Amino acid sequence: MDMPLVIFTPSGKRGNFPVGTPILTAARQLGVDLDSVCGGRGICSKCQIAPAYGEFPKHGVTSSPEALSDWNAVEQRYKDKRGLIDGRRLGCQAQVQGDIVVDVPPESQVHKQVVRKAAAVRAITMDPATKLYYVEVQEPDMHEPSGDLERVATALSESFDLPRVSMDLSVLARLQTALRKGDWSLTLAVHQDGTDASAKVLDIWPGYYEGGIYGLAVDLGSTTIAAHLCDLKTGDVKASAGIMNPQIRFGEDLMSRVSYVMMNPGGDLEMTKAVRDAMNTLIEEVASEAEIEPSSIIESVFVCNPVMHHLLLGIDPVELGQAPFALATSDALNLTAQDLDLHAMNKAGQVYVLPCIAGHVGADAAAVALSEEPSKSEDLVLVVDVGTNAEILLGNKSKVLACSSPTGPAFEGAQISSGQRAAPGAIERIEIDPVTKEPRFRVIGSELWSDEDGFAQAVGDGGITGICGSGIIEAVAEMRMAGLLDPSGLIGSAVQTGTERCIPEGRTHAYVIHDAREKDGPLISVTQGDIRAIQLAKSALYAGARLLMDEMDVEKVDRVTLAGAFGAHISPKHAMVLGMIPDVPLDKVTSAGNAAGTGARIALCNVGSRRKIEQTVHNIHKIETAIEPKFQEHFVNANAVPHATDPFPELGKIVVLPDVSFNTGGGDQNGGRRRRRRA
Ligand code: FES
Repeated sequence: MDMPLVIFTPSGKRGNFPVGTPILTAARQLGVDLDSVCGGRGICSKCQIAPAYGEFPKHGVTSSPEALSDWNAVEQRYKDKRGLIDGRRLGCQAQVQGDIVVDVPPESQVHKQVVRKAAAVRAITMDPATKLYYVEVQEPDMHEPSGDLERVATALSESFDLPRVSMDLSVLARLQTALRKGDWSLTLAVHQDGTDASAKVLDIWPGYYEGGIYGLAVDLGSTTIAAHLCDLKTGDVKASAGIMNPQIRFGEDLMSRVSYVMMNPGGDLEMTKAVRDAMNTLIEEVASEAEIEPSSIIESVFVCNPVMHHLLLGIDPVELGQAPFALATSDALNLTAQDLDLHAMNKAGQVYVLPCIAGHVGADAAAVALSEEPSKSEDLVLVVDVGTNAEILLGNKSKVLACSSPTGPAFEGAQISSGQRAAPGAIERIEIDPVTKEPRFRVIGSELWSDEDGFAQAVGDGGITGICGSGIIEAVAEMRMAGLLDPSGLIGSAVQTGTERCIPEGRTHAYVIHDAREKDGPLISVTQGDIRAIQLAKSALYAGARLLMDEMDVEKVDRVTLAGAFGAHISPKHAMVLGMIPDVPLDKVTSAGNAAGTGARIALCNVGSRRKIEQTVHNIHKIETAIEPKFQEHFVNANAVPHATDPFPELGKIVVLPDVSFNTGGGDQNGGRRRRRRA
């Protein structure tokens, strides 16, 4: 038998090969996904295979142990040094002798699928832009003079078919020492962005490098910066960290930061420096948490809104503050760490910034589109990324629309009298009894409700400190359901509502959730001002969604996906009572977690996805809320809780909203209590 049959599982790829062909070679020729970092030198063990022996009627072959060459010294050496699971062989060493069935275990697949637990359920196919390669390089020869770099390039091209590589001067300066130290062998981190046939060496190590290379997926928000550190070989998230965006001191929201630049010449440079400094701190923090050298962070991917995008890049954002909201560029960017002063990561590190969709719809929305893929949805899906600005996508297979709506920071607990960030001590869940009007609540850090035994001990010395974003949404919605708040958003008085918890506050009222003033603790209440802030935020969100529905010419959507770290904690029922999102059956409201962060991670781990999103972004139709006359009308109608004109039939099936009115100026002096009706 001169040309035995080799069958690979799970791919099912098969072919005939001459006796003596290494399995790795057969895999390459058939396009089977079998990894190799050392180019078949028996050093990396990435090419491990599991030969299968026996009868395989499905494949029409019988394979026996004699179908592979004998276990050899290279394999034995590897097994002695690092261990090899029984039954496994090195694909670069085992040669074809007869018909054989070979299984490629998941860890030996280059494009292995990585499923993230908490962040996203979706699998990411590993194919990062930067990979490690091990080469053995020809020693220099006086009779055939050539540079070390040229011989490295030749070795890379011969072993891995890589295009001609270039090298940063900082790496080149270390090349000669590394080659000699490694006895003419070298591991290289080579970056290929997939846009052209060039390749760039980002780092080198003498001999075979056992350590890892890492990438950072960064979601650069107006309020917080969140980063995931990913192992670029395995896709594992090694550490995640977040810090406040220090630009907050120049303005809470985007427009106030743009105004700061308009009024303070050089203000853009100050903010650029602030965010880049914060990034360097974050890089060091996340590296120390993962116990790795910051210099082994070799790539980073950024997603951000257009103003953050420009300020990160060092571009004056003033044009984004006025119509026609022109971006300096909407294209994706391939940059270096040095371009952005990210000196904490690898000196030759690479940075990819996702494309922006429009002047108000940024790379963060593009990342959400990459993660949630509305363009592949059969039914009409509304994807809402709730943050200081809400990014909204509406679409299905035929069309995707996008807009951004200025919700402000109220949903994040900012500008709320008892508001605070989601941290231990913050009220995150709340229920108000519709009869007694008494609240019960849960705080972050404890599983117990406030009326359960052991709550005080569980909450501990830190106590109850405030209300976070999801808590305020539940509080306002619960107040509406309990008849403490009327559809216009007015809080009733103690007389009108029948509870002493409604206390006067100036000319309006506030509802007391927790009063610890006797023990020098805080008074945690929801004031009329808080309600107004939430109304403005939710009206902006709803009006944005409505505008997209108008453009799509639909009156309802099939499902809603809430994205954003905050979206993960919003209760769909409460969001709908508030009228934040269009009316859909509750089981059609799902949470996607931090979809922008997931999109950044996908782009980090899979270079092909970068091309995909660059293409997708071109096909997304943008709606500019700021200049759409209908936006104002939708905004005003959305001010009522849940809505002045839109019916919420699905909500009406599960919640009865009391028909109350506390507007005493309107002549309702009867305590505001009237019969109840279905919403
Ligand atoms: Fe590296 Fe086989 S390819 S050990």
